[in-house]
Amino acid sequence: MSAFYVTTPIYYVNDRPHIGTAYSTIAADVLARYHRLRGEPTRFLTGLDEHGQKLERRAREMGMEPQAFVDSMAPPFLEAWRALSCQYDDFIRTTEPRHKERAQELWRRCVASGDIYEDDYEGLYCVGCEAYYTDKDLLEGNQCPIHKRPVEVLKERTFFFRLSAYTDKLLAFYEKHPKFVQPEGRFNEVKSFVREGLKDLSLSRGSFSWGIPVPGKPEHVIYVWFDALTNYMSALGGPEKAGEKSDLLRQFWPPEARVVHIVGKDILRFHAVYWPAFLMSAGLEPPTQVWAHGWLTVDGHKMSKSLGNFIPPGPLVEAVGADVLRYYLMRDVAFGQDGDFSHENLFARYHGELGNGLGNLLNRIVASIVKNSFQGVVPEVDASQLQELDKALVHKAQECMRVAARELDEVRPNRALDAIWELVSLTNKYVDQTEPWKLAKQADPSRLAQVVYTVLESLRALAIALWPFMPGKCDELLLQLGLDPVEPKQGQDLWPLRWGLLPAGTQTRPGKALFPRFEKDQEAALIARLLPKVQPMEETKAEKPAESPAKSPAKAAATRDLGAKPDVNIDDFGKLDLRVGEVKLAERVPKSDKLLRLEVDLGPLGVRQILAGIGKHYAPEDLLGKRIAVLANLPPRKMMGLESQGMVLAAGDGEVLSVMHPHKDVPLGSTIA
Ligand code: MSP
Repeated sequence: MSAFYVTTPIYYVNDRPHIGTAYSTIAADVLARYHRLRGEPTRFLTGLDEHGQKLERRAREMGMEPQAFVDSMAPPFLEAWRALSCQYDDFIRTTEPRHKERAQELWRRCVASGDIYEDDYEGLYCVGCEAYYTDKDLLEGNQCPIHKRPVEVLKERTFFFRLSAYTDKLLAFYEKHPKFVQPEGRFNEVKSFVREGLKDLSLSRGSFSWGIPVPGKPEHVIYVWFDALTNYMSALGGPEKAGEKSDLLRQFWPPEARVVHIVGKDILRFHAVYWPAFLMSAGLEPPTQVWAHGWLTVDGHKMSKSLGNFIPPGPLVEAVGADVLRYYLMRDVAFGQDGDFSHENLFARYHGELGNGLGNLLNRIVASIVKNSFQGVVPEVDASQLQELDKALVHKAQECMRVAARELDEVRPNRALDAIWELVSLTNKYVDQTEPWKLAKQADPSRLAQVVYTVLESLRALAIALWPFMPGKCDELLLQLGLDPVEPKQGQDLWPLRWGLLPAGTQTRPGKALFPRFEKDQEAALIARLLPKVQPMEETKAEKPAESPAKSPAKAAATRDLGAKPDVNIDDFGKLDLRVGEVKLAERVPKSDKLLRLEVDLGPLGVRQILAGIGKHYAPEDLLGKRIAVLANLPPRKMMGLESQGMVLAAGDGEVLSVMHPHKDVPLGSTIA
């Protein structure tokens, strides 16, 4: 069984933890928990990047020594990761002696291989990035593309790394490791960057002193990225010096282990180009994979200091708990793509998927049927006597668990959750179909026992598969099922692929609701408290979207004549809960030639009855089984005595009318944005 080593970037201590950095850390924790659950030797590393000119300046501004300053900035990170249930095995800080000596050892190895040499360097340097830029990378006015501030001209005698010698070696390495960078699109960007030819890299600074001294030339400090990247190895006790042997390094670095670096897309180049080149030069194996996730915006706005909309995780954890926040971030954002954090979405998923989808399922079965009909004890069933409907659910459950495992193996947490949530929906549907509350009223309990056991087993599988995402809630769920909390053991695969492990006779322990509802006004008050106070006037020029054509009064009037509506902002759009659903039933409403009555399955939101005024353009059978777009948060409305619980989206000009449908098979309930 190969070992698994997952890392987050080490965070700069000049910022406090926010949901962006929490996102990387949670993703790494979910992966680590998943691999531990599979019984694999697993190690999870995170830490802090504490050197560099920017930090030195910040410390001086605060009238502090750099070391005292970084020491004062570390506790909020430890506290945030603890509050978010992120269970790392090691926390590394680049100011620790154990790190410094390893960064110097990596340097010595690169010197020994002839890849480090001394020369003059003059360049355009961004203090924020701790990096030099070439003209073509800069924005107008010689501004750094990330910090939007002018770069400085810096001339100094420095050491260089012979990166130019690694163009072909890296390309050959990429060829041999086609999954080295994920997602694939980002790998293509990396490859084209390398294909253009690499330039040697300035590897030391003499202009400031807050860093690791260059071996043999202590008036220079090692370039902060060379220093920082080494953390992944120094935490394992590598690179080893002559005669040394680090067990951790041997166990958790290739070729023995699978190493996955989780990074944000902005720091991919450092990880996918520089880092493997340094390692190759030092005669060491590169990591197995670099996974670049996207960036989170907040209610459509970029998070930035000037906007004041950095969202710290603490208040959110207080409001909804660590598990819900972890779940939301992993569920709502496709790993690898940019995503938007919205408090409304967080609560919508809380009430819809977690409360109505999972919590109710547990409640309906354990707190009511098992308690009332079986005195709270798991009934005995003969697996060979199960009915087709039961077997179909068991089969689907196993399939969902297999898919979820594959997705987690491939570092696609949101897709794993899609598969797991399919089982939540299927189990709810199974309960609706089997109607255990009716069976409970019948004399013979044997059918009820089969149904109840099937649902309990499904809940057990869900609790384990969701444990990496929501460890606290899942342990609570297991407790209510009468089982012990999850306790991963090396060598023991606990992934729920097998059916029937819940022992008959287990005493269930129904407890309080897993995801208690917030009343509407309570939720609104919480959101109002949590919302960052955005000051749009302070948005920098570069962050402002290009002016839309409708902004000039003349153009606005002209476009309105074409039926265009006044501009809305992204927050207005975000209020619409647009979903993909599948038409399960379609029929004409008696005495109406216009109205069709549809039953639309919106996945986690359940099945809705929707009345659509499309009867003149569609026969009911045209829509059966079709996936369509639905506006799901309109208040219910009565038409011809029937309640419509949503609206079907359609395009048309009065003559033709076409119901909108996604052109790929996205999961039911997927949001449209
Ligand atoms: N210290 C370097 C990393 C060195 S790793 C050898 C660094 N630190 S950072 O604190 O600036 O950023 C750390 C991570 O946070 C990056 O992966 C970055 O992409 C991520 N994020 C910062 N803001 C983010 C969002 N708004 N959304 C998602 N991730 C974001 O870079």
